[in-house]
Amino acid sequence: MFKKYTLVALLLLGFIAQASANSSVKTAIASAHPLATAAGFEIISQGGNVFDAAVAVSATLAVVEPSGSGLGGGGYWLVHRASDNKTRFIDGREKAPLAAHKDLYVDSAGQVINPRLSLDGAKAAAIPGLPAALVHLAEHYGKLPLARSLAPAIRHARNGFVVGAHHLSLLKNRANVIKQFPASRDIFLVKGQLPEHFAVLRQVDLANTLNQLARHGRAGFYANEVADKLLTAVQRAGGIWTTEDLQNYQVVEREPVVGNYRGIKITSAPPSSAGGIVLLEALTILSAYDLAKLDKLTQIHLITEAMRRAYHDRALYLGDSDFVSIPVQRLLSNDYAAGLRSSIRMDAVLPSKQLSGDVLPDSEGGHTTHFSIIDAEGNRVAATLSINFPFGSGFVASGTGVLLNDEMDDFVSHAGPNGYGLVGSAANMIAPGKRMLSSMTPTFLEDDKRIAVLGTPGGSRIISMVLLATLEFAKATSPMSWVKLPRFHHQYLPDVLEYENTAFTQQEVVALKGLGHSLQATANPYGNMHAAVLYKDTHTLNAASDPRGEGFATVK
Ligand code: DON
Repeated sequence: MFKKYTLVALLLLGFIAQASANSSVKTAIASAHPLATAAGFEIISQGGNVFDAAVAVSATLAVVEPSGSGLGGGGYWLVHRASDNKTRFIDGREKAPLAAHKDLYVDSAGQVINPRLSLDGAKAAAIPGLPAALVHLAEHYGKLPLARSLAPAIRHARNGFVVGAHHLSLLKNRANVIKQFPASRDIFLVKGQLPEHFAVLRQVDLANTLNQLARHGRAGFYANEVADKLLTAVQRAGGIWTTEDLQNYQVVEREPVVGNYRGIKITSAPPSSAGGIVLLEALTILSAYDLAKLDKLTQIHLITEAMRRAYHDRALYLGDSDFVSIPVQRLLSNDYAAGLRSSIRMDAVLPSKQLSGDVLPDSEGGHTTHFSIIDAEGNRVAATLSINFPFGSGFVASGTGVLLNDEMDDFVSHAGPNGYGLVGSAANMIAPGKRMLSSMTPTFLEDDKRIAVLGTPGGSRIISMVLLATLEFAKATSPMSWVKLPRFHHQYLPDVLEYENTAFTQQEVVALKGLGHSLQATANPYGNMHAAVLYKDTHTLNAASDPRGEGFATVK
């Protein structure tokens, strides 16, 4: 599937240069791949709106960033349409197969059968939502036919694209799993080995599957030929999908969660994501402090204590709201935040084990993707899409080119942390047709001068990254400053304050330890945030891609 096109590679490299663009023209797009950003503009230039562009960017990312998202996965699209001031959250999260149950990955004694079962191969895969969501977006929000918006993705799948360093490094991480499955191996490896730098990846089966979707809409994926191939491959490999699972899959439109932090309106992800609730709860705790007037050490300490408490409630209360009842109003109320704030001491941490409630340990991992689009009229899309770990379950359903997700690991499937070290409760246990709790946090921020669109991949750290970016939005106007900000993270359990090397000085590390924090520098920088902004007074736009990634942001 690979050819070498050095010239193309060099041209692409030039294009990949980190970008932040500023201009007074129509639309800003920031995504994790230059070809995906270009696909969005291609569709706009054909008369599409930002929602058509979102279809094009999502589908192109599925092709050119197969480690992060894809037709075999799901995602969330937070959308705002200026003409009728409508804001909606499109929940295209994967669902547990109907044959799934809470003990799917444990034996009769409650012991994990094989820790890889929820991560690798067909049994780790939940029913994909991304294809249905693309159809939904095109039908309910777009101006162009779905086939038109899918055209750039089909072209890149058929003609191929030059793989970058990010792709190769994630592929290296997951090569052992990909090698186990012939259809995956044939697409992503070359004679069982990693491809060379600047190799071209062509995905002809995926182009054909996208073409079915383009021609037949929903039925092009969830019925007929593609569905037959998906079911045959999954069942042969020990998976539990059935015809009904594919027929029954539905996207849900939900009301986003909305809150306020010191004059900034925050619109973010409701369940099945934990993102918006944890973000707003942490911000409400912090809103009583004038952080700008405090020294940096106290700021870090207070932000960490707010993260600890909000992530604790994630573990205790959150799951799919179609299945469990979540006390959203209480969790987001000022009184509740005041109660949590009263347990925060300026001179010491509150160890996580002293927070009450029964949780079952669970964890997070891999890769995912986010893009942000806004036009000069304020139409906008924040989308975070995932197949969970890099290259999902590593399993391509033969003949489809579709790499399946391993999102089942985002459920609490046993007593113990999940792939991201996250713990949870009964609210996030597996049930047939249920959506697994996510941390994905596509978000809009608005004050009297600006409307921003942002989000990032990064597993359990997604929410703390969006929290830090929101606090930075309160201080600074340039999206580059929100996306490049050094990061730190606390998720209640493990009771550890993680930080990027550049986030704290040595002195701050010592002082934070003195307050009782357990500190751990992350091995690498993390996250890949993409943000776009509309300045209300001038109607100008700006966009930025995280310098940690290979994304591309521009305004045209
Ligand atoms: O939905 C979630 O929370 C996870 N499946 C997201 C995974 C992720 O962001 C991996 N990125 N590094």
